[in-house]
Amino acid sequence: MTKPTYYITTPIYYPSDKLHIGHAYCTTIADTLARFHRAKGEDVFFLTGSDEHGLKIQRKAQEKGITPIEYVDAIIANFKQLWNELNISNNDFIRTSEERHHKVVQDVLTKIFEQGDIYKKNYEGLYCVPCESYWLERQLVDGKCPDCGRPVEKMQEESYFFKLSKYQDWWLQFIEENPNFIQPASRRNEMINFVKQGLEDLCITRTTFDWGIPVPFDKKHVVYVWFDALLNYLTGIKYGTDDAMFNKFWPASLHLVGKEIVRFHTIIWPIMLKAMGVELPQKVYGHGWLVIDGDKMSKSKGNVIDPLALIDEFGADAIRYFLLREIVFGNDGNFSRDALITRINSDLANDLGNLLHRTVSMIEKYHGGVVTNAGVSEAVDEDLIALVNSTVANFEKDMDAMEINSAIKGVWALISRANKYIDETGPWILAKDEAKAARLQTVMYNLAETLRVVAILVAPFIPSTSPKIYTQLGLEVPAEFLLADAVFGKMEGTKVQKGDPLYPRIEIAEDGATIIGGKRYEAKVEVPAPAVEEPKVEMEPIKEEITIDAFEKIDLRVGTVKAAEKVKKSKKLLKLQVMIGEEERTIVSGIAQYYEPEALIGRNVIVIANLAPAKLFGIESFGMLLAASDGNGNLVLADAPGMASGSRVK
Ligand code: MSP
Repeated sequence: MTKPTYYITTPIYYPSDKLHIGHAYCTTIADTLARFHRAKGEDVFFLTGSDEHGLKIQRKAQEKGITPIEYVDAIIANFKQLWNELNISNNDFIRTSEERHHKVVQDVLTKIFEQGDIYKKNYEGLYCVPCESYWLERQLVDGKCPDCGRPVEKMQEESYFFKLSKYQDWWLQFIEENPNFIQPASRRNEMINFVKQGLEDLCITRTTFDWGIPVPFDKKHVVYVWFDALLNYLTGIKYGTDDAMFNKFWPASLHLVGKEIVRFHTIIWPIMLKAMGVELPQKVYGHGWLVIDGDKMSKSKGNVIDPLALIDEFGADAIRYFLLREIVFGNDGNFSRDALITRINSDLANDLGNLLHRTVSMIEKYHGGVVTNAGVSEAVDEDLIALVNSTVANFEKDMDAMEINSAIKGVWALISRANKYIDETGPWILAKDEAKAARLQTVMYNLAETLRVVAILVAPFIPSTSPKIYTQLGLEVPAEFLLADAVFGKMEGTKVQKGDPLYPRIEIAEDGATIIGGKRYEAKVEVPAPAVEEPKVEMEPIKEEITIDAFEKIDLRVGTVKAAEKVKKSKKLLKLQVMIGEEERTIVSGIAQYYEPEALIGRNVIVIANLAPAKLFGIESFGMLLAASDGNGNLVLADAPGMASGSRVK
């Protein structure tokens, strides 16, 4: 009999920066679901990866004076390290810069183009670079991007458009007929309202930058990042190259995404697939956001939490457990260090850790470590065993319905019940009475057996803890913890082995540092990226007042750097060729210590265009570039990304 299959994906994250705890949250959930389905005996494919193209990445690389691929390679190493340390069991890691993906995107584009669903037109729109999205004026909120709240830029280009509008009615009908496609239901309603307002055709190519997949039928253009990125879900299971693999796993069981990208996954993606003649995925789930102590995570607030530092301090399973238990799946949730420590101490160290420790210690003390079922039962045993069985059944139901929090709560209710069972049966009293020897063996057996089932149930959440429980119970660690083995009464004759506490209690020192297993960790998890550390500016005094007329005399223009080179024998100067509209100018600028010449090519600058020419190192310079500089030796060129060269700056 062939096994049922389960194909789950995370968003492919942008390698514009290191990943933070929010990304770890989404991937942890996906990993837990993947592990749960493996535990059910299904054939699982779990895909994550990186979304590497687009203007945002190109600019980041330019700022550093390196190529985009050099830039992303370094960040992908961080992605992979994080997933490794967080115990993420993905079957593949897809990078959109890979050849296998370029091929899929180009093939799909050609097919849709040839069938007439793509056309060319001149387009002017408002672009949000961080979100890589065009917006209409009416869609802006307070003049800013409705998704992220950042300013948009006016961009103009000749582009290819995908006929989304043609599929509007089909989409509405599809959603009506498949009410479970978008979850949670609140997000479904949002999407329906969005589409009912009218779907615009989607601009799917760009010419303003080149870090992307070339459009096969017009090489001046690169593919829009979202059109490129969504197709990763097909590339990952070998669409077009291995039909057996593709047909085995497609349609995907679940695309797990954050709520802000539900629109791309539930409107654009299904329409792309419909146009391609490919079946639609079964479900898209839009999870909520993690906020930090009630505040949105952002670099400028300096509250971005580095998951690697947290793992180093508390261990991967503790972080996973917290994320899965504390945040109600589907809703936004709060991350706080205090709540994390409380959860670890109470749920992991106290409830689970103590149950194992007490059980194993008593079996060693009373029975030389050997677990034996002597079969002397009492009513209290039936109560415990019934709870084990109902917990397993409810666990499976909850996890199937993605009610992750209830599934965990159910397991912890069983753990609490087992701790209470120790107090009710009083093994230390039974141990004093020879006549109760068999009863004591049964009690210890029931506890060990409950722990064995608990180890199976918690394996999807805290995968490195289950093997530790098994080892302490004297059981061989299986390659996979299978739910089929979560049946009470399977263990016999094992010899327990006391080990280290599963989760050492976390002590907090007076200065806020944590002390874990004797090691001290300074009270710091916030990792503001170096780029956002506000430099202490030693401000130069403001110059003497001028009139508006005096200012109006200065003609500031947007220029585009066409060529740049170092000025021989000068440490400070670069010689630039700058286009101001149709006019080419030579400008010598004192920025050599801040910018590599290659990094400037193609970049917009602001030029004082009517400044009298001056000779520098024998080169005549026609204009000056605007730049911000602080008292600490930092300098950044003023910029007008996306503006046409020659535009006036006022
Ligand atoms: N590259 C696109 C996705 C393309 S998928 C075909 C993208 N990348 S991203 O790097 O911005 O990652 C977005 C995803 O990261 C969110 O959808 C969400 O799953 C996760 N999160 C990012 N910040 C988060 C929080 N603060 N909280 C929870 N999840 C967060 O969008």
